[in-house]
Amino acid sequence: MKTLGVGILGFGFMGKTHTYAHHTIPLYYSPLPIKCRLKAVCEVTPELAAAAMETGQFERCTTNPLGVKGSGEAGCIGAPPAVINALVDALAPYGIKHIDMPATPRAIWEAIQAARPRAAAE
Ligand SMILES: NC(=O)c1ccc[n+]([C@@H]2O[C@H](COP(=O)([O-])OP(=O)(O)OC[C@H]3O[C@@H](n4cnc5c(N)ncnc54)[C@H](O)[C@@H]3O)[C@@H](O)[C@H]2O)c1
Repeated sequence: MKTLGVGILGFGFMGKTHTYAHHTIPLYYSPLPIKCRLKAVCEVTPELAAAAMETGQFERCTTNPLGVKGSGEAGCIGAPPAVINALVDALAPYGIKHIDMPATPRAIWEAIQAARPRAAAE
């Protein structure tokens, strides 16, 4: 049977999710036309890489050539809704309940202009 060697770059949420999928795929699809082997996992530091190798049962582990950590989306995913919610709160007196991104100054000005006749009529 053909073997597919799998490498995972980063052992955060997605790395763990994909590792789990490779471990469990034979439970769902059987017989598989290929055998998956978890060959290598890459993390930022040797300690993280070793821990990832053990947890994910990879054959080996490594760090990235630059030894740097990229930015994930976890830290920034909350910012846009927070900014838009703050804008909608600020514009509530105009009866505005929704602002699309990108919330440019022009888009906000137009939303206020569109809301003025509505607010005056109420
Ligand atoms: N979380 C999701 O639901 C989801 C869904 C689809 C796509 N993604 C994408 O998948 C990627 C990973 O997301 P995540 O949620 O697993 O993030 P995460 O922050 O949970 O995990 C990222 C992992 O990568 C490691 N890492 C960072 N820079 C590295 C480098 N240079 N070399 C080796 N390892 C490095 C970090 O130490 C961390 O363990 C992101 O690009 C994200 O946009 C995430």
